[in-house]
Amino acid sequence: MEKKKFGGLGLRLFILTQVFTTLIVLATGFFAIEINRKALLRRRQPTIGQVKRTLENMRIEVLIGGFVACLSGIALTLAITKPIKQLIEGVQSAAVGDFTKTIDVPPGQFEFSQLVQAYNQMLASLKKSEEHLRKVFYAADDAIMTTDREGRITLWSESSERMFGYSKDQIVGKDLNTLHSPKMKPDLIRQMQESAMKKGRWQGEIIYSNSKGHSIDGWCVMTTLTEETGEIVGYLSVVRDMTEKKQMEMQLIQADKMASLGELAAGVAHEINNPLSGILSNAEFLQEEIPDDSEEQQEEIREIIENSQRIKTIVQDLLNFSRQRDSKTYTTLDISAVITSSLNLTEHQIQLDRIKIVKEIGDPLPFVRGSFNQMEQVFINLLSNARYALNRKFPDPHEDKTLLIRTDQVEETGRKYVRVEFHDRGIGIPEEDMDKIFNPFFTSKEQGQGTGLGLSISYNIIQEHKGTIRFDSKEGEYTKVTVDLPIDEGDIEDGE
Ligand SMILES: Nc1ncnc2c1ncn2[C@@H]1O[C@H](COP(=O)(O)OP(=O)(O)O)[C@@H](O)[C@H]1O
Ligand SMILES: [Mg+2]
Repeated sequence: MEKKKFGGLGLRLFILTQVFTTLIVLATGFFAIEINRKALLRRRQPTIGQVKRTLENMRIEVLIGGFVACLSGIALTLAITKPIKQLIEGVQSAAVGDFTKTIDVPPGQFEFSQLVQAYNQMLASLKKSEEHLRKVFYAADDAIMTTDREGRITLWSESSERMFGYSKDQIVGKDLNTLHSPKMKPDLIRQMQESAMKKGRWQGEIIYSNSKGHSIDGWCVMTTLTEETGEIVGYLSVVRDMTEKKQMEMQLIQADKMASLGELAAGVAHEINNPLSGILSNAEFLQEEIPDDSEEQQEEIREIIENSQRIKTIVQDLLNFSRQRDSKTYTTLDISAVITSSLNLTEHQIQLDRIKIVKEIGDPLPFVRGSFNQMEQVFINLLSNARYALNRKFPDPHEDKTLLIRTDQVEETGRKYVRVEFHDRGIGIPEEDMDKIFNPFFTSKEQGQGTGLGLSISYNIIQEHKGTIRFDSKEGEYTKVTVDLPIDEGDIEDGE
């Protein structure tokens, strides 16, 4: 459609210059006839020869006039039609954001040359301000996007691309809802827009979902975009990624909870320990007293002893959970050696269950500082949880009955870490349990199968090693545990 406009205009200008040329030709002819007619009239009785010469002169004059008019017509076309066409093309491209079409300034100091110069200057400053805007858009950490009145995305900054993983081509024109996690109410956008309309802005927490389906905790500020007339033409949303901050908050809450539970657990454990020792020694004494042939009584006493022993292990775990471990005993640790040792201890059971272990232990890992035994305790617990989850999902041998153990080096918030991942394809963790798994005594295992202390102890150990432990899981599909431990750079303070 645009092209047609250019063509139409070119044709009009061409006709205009042709009309102009024709007018010059006609005018020249008219003047030539007039001058020669007057010259003839001045002679009273012109001879045939004089008339003939006059006519001859007229023809030459008209020819020269026509020739000159043609030349000026062509010059006119070249000097005006072409630059005007370029100018219009340039303006139309600029209107759709292409500021590259500068025009050669025609020679001379005519108004038209000045117009072209002004146009080129305008183009240069538009390009500069567009670049500036683009830099602002790029430098911004927050995702910036605009939507139309119906909530369709119209503008998408580079920072949005970084945060959500969608390119401009993939997302422009799509509904803003595409970015929201399915957990958000579907009519939230309408509410946001209404509130932005009434109060000028809406702000609040939104759970987004990036192109890979991972959740992002965002803080969104939505404002209206208005025309000069006051009419709302769309909305501007600025989204800040709060995922890391949220995780840190959660870890702090968890650490606080653990500290108070630790105190409680230590108190309870001590209180139970003494009477328990009494029960156990008395039961053992009774066992000896009861004659061997009173089978029923022997059976009962054996049960008492077994159950008391079980309580003893739980109490031991509790004490373990609450104990302030001494970081002065930390040594330089090779995490792959700890993994190997933990695997050796559980290997027999894992083989019996026909679980396939895939190890992706990369190049020699940098050392971390810590306690071999404690880290081994963490890994054994993670291995045992994975084993349980895999056995629950696949009671029989299966090709997906696998556990992937991967190590890596990563850098996060300026610190280097050794990362260990345990990725099992077991039953996974239901979403509503995700914030409970580190709680002492939380277990989904059947009675007698788990104490629910494994992860809370592991959490404490990792915390004391200044590391982090995170779970990512999908119910029925997988669980991925990520343990990050700071690389020993000789600057970790001991004995804190
Ligand atoms: N790999 C895993 N797959 C599925 N669920 C897991 C996994 N690891 C931990 N969990 C969940 O976390 C709970 C707590 O684990 P933990 O503290 O080790 O206690 P326990 O193993 O005694 O149940 C488990 O009962 C289970 O519900
Ligand atoms: Mg466990």
